[in-house]
Amino acid sequence: MAKYKIALMPGDGIGNDVMDAAQIILRAVDLGAEYIPAEIGWQCWEKYGDALPPATIEILRNCDCALFGAITSKPHVKGYKSPIVRLRQVFDLYVNLRPCRAYPGNPLNYRDDIDIVVFRENTEDLYSGVEFYPVPEELMNLEGMGRFKGQDTAVSLRIFTRKGCRRIIEAAFKYAREHGRKKVTVIHKANVVRKTCGMFLEEAAAVAKDYPEIPWDDANVDAMTMWLIKNPEKYDVLVTSNLFGDIISDECAQLVGGLGFASAGNIGDTLAVFEPTHGSAPKYAGQYKVNPLAMLLSVRLMFEWLGEKRHASAVERAVAKVVRDGVHRTYDMGGTSTTLQVAEAVAREM
Ligand code: NAI
Ligand code: MG
Repeated sequence: MAKYKIALMPGDGIGNDVMDAAQIILRAVDLGAEYIPAEIGWQCWEKYGDALPPATIEILRNCDCALFGAITSKPHVKGYKSPIVRLRQVFDLYVNLRPCRAYPGNPLNYRDDIDIVVFRENTEDLYSGVEFYPVPEELMNLEGMGRFKGQDTAVSLRIFTRKGCRRIIEAAFKYAREHGRKKVTVIHKANVVRKTCGMFLEEAAAVAKDYPEIPWDDANVDAMTMWLIKNPEKYDVLVTSNLFGDIISDECAQLVGGLGFASAGNIGDTLAVFEPTHGSAPKYAGQYKVNPLAMLLSVRLMFEWLGEKRHASAVERAVAKVVRDGVHRTYDMGGTSTTLQVAEAVAREM
């Protein structure tokens, strides 16, 4: 019997290109895993009227984890919503882990001494999907709503639960402890958004008591966007809510080379889905031009999550070596190598 069952969901666009690159790495290690292809995204919507069909949910229920490429969202198609947001909610993948490390020699690095890990809450906040337009009368009658009466108004709810706050903060502190990190910074806007961010900060203070050896501080999200440019080397583990984390993690990704380097894990208690944070980049689809390193670093995260530390380090060391050598580079790094040539170069270094 296979040691692991892993679903492979390329999605569409460059999701296919980078999944082919990932397979080069998967073939290079002897993981003893069974890989199960699963469909997600636009083709599923066209075929079944469902971007996350029941067959895919069933496959995922029977897998240890999954690797995902990217999908194209179609904001103008009625009823078609990002299956990724739904996937995170259906499987309660509450941690979004986004490491941003500058590999020396990358010409795209903002600086070479950046090593930040972002923990973004992944199931609540403004992404809860509770929105109103038109806004029901009962809601318009609530305290504080008076000045919007008679206006054409839309409402999206920012929902936080204490459990949701606690578990993402715990995940960040636990990671800091297990990986010997120096500090945790909690990002919020509690001076204005008092109830939700206030709860987040309360939970941070409570969780921090269980990790007395780990220094922590907090910062307003707006100030944080500046400090990350001014002193990125001072930051280590960051933890924040869903929307702030979406924004801050894109900023951190840009500090270390942009979307071609940004890996992510969507992690729950029973399933984890690993993916590059970039989208489907339709204009490059099928051209095997894009940088596979975000995907390969996502494979590394997957190995680490599975407890396959040796394989995880091998991937990261090989990525660092290929970046440093500078021989195999895709267009974003100023080179002419293809997606698969870069992946093969990484596989040779493992
Ligand atoms: P995108 O991330 O697909 O691409 C933006 C630009 O970034 C590309 O045109 C390209 O220049 C560069 N880029 C992206 N990945 C790269 C890579 N691996 N190597 C080198 N350069 C890379 O974002 P965009 O264009 O805003 O969205 C395209 C589609 O993807 C949309 O439908 C969007 O909704 C969807 N999307 C899906 C995501 C997912 O599946 N998780 C995440 C983000 C966007
Ligand atoms: Mg984003």
